[in-house]
Amino acid sequence: MTPDPRKVAILISGRGSNMRALVEKAEGYEVTLVASNRPSAPGLAWAEERGIETWSEDSRGQDRADFDKRLGDRLEESGAGTIALAGFMRILGPDFIRRFEGRMLNIHPSLLPKYKGLDTHARALEAGDAEHGCSVHVVTEELDAGEVVAQARVPVTDSDTIGTLEAKVLIEEHKLYPQALARFAAR
Ligand code: GAR
Repeated sequence: MTPDPRKVAILISGRGSNMRALVEKAEGYEVTLVASNRPSAPGLAWAEERGIETWSEDSRGQDRADFDKRLGDRLEESGAGTIALAGFMRILGPDFIRRFEGRMLNIHPSLLPKYKGLDTHARALEAGDAEHGCSVHVVTEELDAGEVVAQARVPVTDSDTIGTLEAKVLIEEHKLYPQALARFAAR
């Protein structure tokens, strides 16, 4: 199947609230597959209930290249020309990244290039930042380092905790990602 950039496969590992926002606000693109490296990811059941095709396989203890190959084959089979990582918490190997180069987006809970990796809200609080936020970026081999295509900011207040900050940023993620994905899919 020739990949169509307006057909989107979403990769999740857990809750899948960003995936839900991408499905519910899909305009100018169509979600053809939701895939996960965790068969118990709650987001999978939500997608299935809505008649969206799903694929999952537990990646724990698996050879990275083998897992990536099976996932990549399934993504190609779905006809998706764009892949949206949405809380996908497994590192993808270089062969996978090259296979889908320039066609993958990720949402990250920080104002990149600040706070790549994990614990972004705690790190923003610890640093005493006046603002924090989220970024949508193109996925490249270097973690959280690809071109940033969209960002949203939230103020950090004295009363903020990791939990309140996470909640504020998540609201922005759900608005930002569908818009950024629609633009990326139409490029
Ligand atoms: C989101 O906050 C997303 O930005 C973050 O995980 C959460 C997933 O929530 N992603 C990363 O940290 C990627 N490094 P969700 O499953 O409800 O969308």
